[in-house]
Amino acid sequence: MSEALLRVEDLVVDYRSKGRRPVRAVDRVSLAIPRGQTVGLVGESGSGKSTIAAAVLGLVAPTGGRVLLEGEPMDRRSRAARAELARQVQAVFQDPFGSMNPTRKVGHTLGELLRHNLRLPPDQIEARLAQALAEVGMGPEAVDRFPSQFSGGQLQRLAIARAMVVQPKLLICDEAVSSLDLSVQAQVINLLASVTAARGLSNLFISHDLSVVTYLSDRIVVLFAGQVMEEGPAGLVSASPRHPYTQSLALAAPVPDVAKQAARRRQRLAGRAAPAGLGPADSGMVVPAAPGCAYAPRCPVAIGRCLRERPALVSFAATGAAVACHVAAPGSEEGPTP
Ligand SMILES: Nc1ncnc2c1ncn2[C@@H]1O[C@H](COP(=O)(O)OP(=O)(O)OP(=O)(O)O)[C@@H](O)[C@H]1O
Ligand SMILES: [Mg+2]
Repeated sequence: MSEALLRVEDLVVDYRSKGRRPVRAVDRVSLAIPRGQTVGLVGESGSGKSTIAAAVLGLVAPTGGRVLLEGEPMDRRSRAARAELARQVQAVFQDPFGSMNPTRKVGHTLGELLRHNLRLPPDQIEARLAQALAEVGMGPEAVDRFPSQFSGGQLQRLAIARAMVVQPKLLICDEAVSSLDLSVQAQVINLLASVTAARGLSNLFISHDLSVVTYLSDRIVVLFAGQVMEEGPAGLVSASPRHPYTQSLALAAPVPDVAKQAARRRQRLAGRAAPAGLGPADSGMVVPAAPGCAYAPRCPVAIGRCLRERPALVSFAATGAAVACHVAAPGSEEGPTP
């Protein structure tokens, strides 16, 4: 098998601030993105998605583990190699209005890396901008406008164009469509699918919404409290989730039928009731109850072992999926849940 473009190995990230206990935002996470593929990272707020993105972008230093791009650890890179890395890995973030300098014309912002990092001559910059704008369905006249003249959806198109002008290998989309109206969201998702396919780009696509992630991703990684709960082919993880947490995410995804939606809601809320002896169900971020499973305090099917022992991520050989759950693991006495 060829080397994955991006490999995250046993990544641990602790945030430390004065007078406070360190927060373990990412807890031994491993994932790989093959060339040309999209890996979706899904989990609720505070599960550590953006921290993983920040570690890949070199914005936070790992407490443990490492990030490799094309097989090379990122922390061993020289200064020049780091600058090259900044070109190869580009990101699109959630807030379309905050991502562009409001006082500069769009062309200035989109051309920044081409001028400063690549030092391209003006005619080449112009050509690259025009090509990238066409790719995202915007006219060349956009370069002479200010960000305030665009809608949220148009600004996300421009943010994608800005990423594309430097011809990256990996795109990181951190909640890139989350602030958009549903119809615009669908357009930008389709755009991301076509741009990444046309360029053979790898994509780390982050969202709290399982249905959005499923649509765009080849594989999905499900994160809870900084830990991988489940991982596998997107269609399979979404349609037949094994982990109780992934099942709750699937139940939370909206469906068009009102009666079905109400039934799912009842099922979801029922699932939130904690099993006897595990304390009240928690609606917020769960501090991993070392040494057990982080999800145990909220899990409707947790057994005693879940509180004592963190489950390893175990693969289902037949499907290429893996689950970190004592109850749902292949071969467990309780057997996999449906
Ligand atoms: N700069 C920081 N200092 C201290 N703690 C932080 C910092 N950034 C994030 N955290 C904490 O780390 C954990 C993971 O946060 P992170 O932003 O990575 O989650 P997320 O999955 O991206 O959430 P969201 O869906 O809300 O964007 C949370 O508990 C958060 O409070
Ligand atoms: Mg985030």
